[in-house]
Amino acid sequence: MSEPDHQSLFQLPELAGLCPVLQATESKDWSAQESVRRWKRVHYCLKQIGQALVARITSQPIYELKLLFSHHAYLLSEQVTTIRTRVSEMREPPLGLDKVPHPGMQRLMEDLAGMNDLSAFLHACYQCVLPEALVACQGIQSAAHPVADAPSVRAAKLIAFELQELIQTGQAACQAIDQAIKLQAGETSPDIICQNVNLPSWLAHLQQCLQSAGGLDGTNRLDDQPATVPDAYPNDLPFTYSGLPKRDSRFRDSYNAGVNAEAFLYDQRFSPQDKTLMMYYKRIREIDVPETMASILVELRDQKPWEFHREMMRQLWDEARHAMMGQIGFASLGIDWTQIPINFTWSLNLNTQLDAAQRHGVLFFIEQGLMTRKGKRYEWEVSLESQDALAALFQDFDWADEVLHAQIGRRWYVPQFASLQEALCFGDQAWSTVMSHWLEYQQQQLTSHRNWWPDLYRLACQKWNKQPDPAALAFDTSYQASRADLKGIGPPAE
Ligand SMILES: [Fe+2]
Ligand SMILES: [Fe+2]
Repeated sequence: MSEPDHQSLFQLPELAGLCPVLQATESKDWSAQESVRRWKRVHYCLKQIGQALVARITSQPIYELKLLFSHHAYLLSEQVTTIRTRVSEMREPPLGLDKVPHPGMQRLMEDLAGMNDLSAFLHACYQCVLPEALVACQGIQSAAHPVADAPSVRAAKLIAFELQELIQTGQAACQAIDQAIKLQAGETSPDIICQNVNLPSWLAHLQQCLQSAGGLDGTNRLDDQPATVPDAYPNDLPFTYSGLPKRDSRFRDSYNAGVNAEAFLYDQRFSPQDKTLMMYYKRIREIDVPETMASILVELRDQKPWEFHREMMRQLWDEARHAMMGQIGFASLGIDWTQIPINFTWSLNLNTQLDAAQRHGVLFFIEQGLMTRKGKRYEWEVSLESQDALAALFQDFDWADEVLHAQIGRRWYVPQFASLQEALCFGDQAWSTVMSHWLEYQQQQLTSHRNWWPDLYRLACQKWNKQPDPAALAFDTSYQASRADLKGIGPPAE
């Protein structure tokens, strides 16, 4: 009997392209247990970093970092979901995905999450833990049996692919902040949270934590050496979550509620083109939604299942994208958005006056309102009429995103009530109790609620090369007496 040559017919790709047969026959030191063990470690780190990023969105002043953290926390939540799915395919519940895999990793992630210093935090995420998680994924990709554990190989490949880009962007942010600190030469920018952490000693500490755990995936363990977990990194002022939204120094007059964007938008007298300008403002103002959603996610961290967090993370990221749409819209008109007061009292008042359940109620109430004839469809139709292709494109997807958000609300918020009506009522009432502090902000000289619209509108008309419409120029309705759904008194919303 001759030896089989293992050739495929017509030299077709062998084993569905996974690998050559002979390679697959090589004995592999791999098991479902090892696969689950490694995945759980990667899962723990990615989940913890995602949570640490979410917890910073509200109080991180720098706009670009709010966006970056929103994006990365979303990507990490998707990766975490991929891992949870794979583990659940290999094991019966309870899966133990919420257990800490090793005390050394607990120390690592607790110290990272407690790091207030911006540069040290960014270094820990993007120069240390995430690159190690990438190596761990690449390790699974090469060590797993390509046929027997093909689903893990695929998952590791996809996560590694996404992590590479994520790390690259994070490291660029890291460098930018370090460069900014260097250029300040001793003078601390109010935008950068700086505690003068000694970076080499901080990074060495993180490495020691990892070493004590046998590396992130636990493959570097020397069994004869008992692992000593380092003491917590000395930190006099650890990071704690704050619901008070912070904005960087480019933002001006953030308490200003002098222009009621919705009143303008629904006024029949004004042209679609003029309304696109107000819509760009409404979009960029949406940076307050991630600030509020982060507060819900942090406060309900241990009370809601992972699927809740995953879906709400997606929504948070969408809202950050909506703010970017506004930013891009102003850029398309050649207008500097930092000249416009981007109000933050919606997130400020919701985060400080309501509990997480009430905030979720307000969010749901607003988003259900957007599904009506007068909501997102209206904004899209106005932008189509305006002939501004960019505004039309953005409103098209803004509407599409809101369809998803309303669904997320129906999945996670409404079932807590006896009926949809009751759920809406709860949100409406919670919103009605929020004090807008209109007069207080004025009395404390935090703002004069200046009507900034005419200046912006005049500038846009110059860019559009047209004469301002006198009625639009005279628009002077504030939020003093009506909230964003033009009902009662209250703060603005998305
Ligand atoms: Fe939105
Ligand atoms: Fe939304």
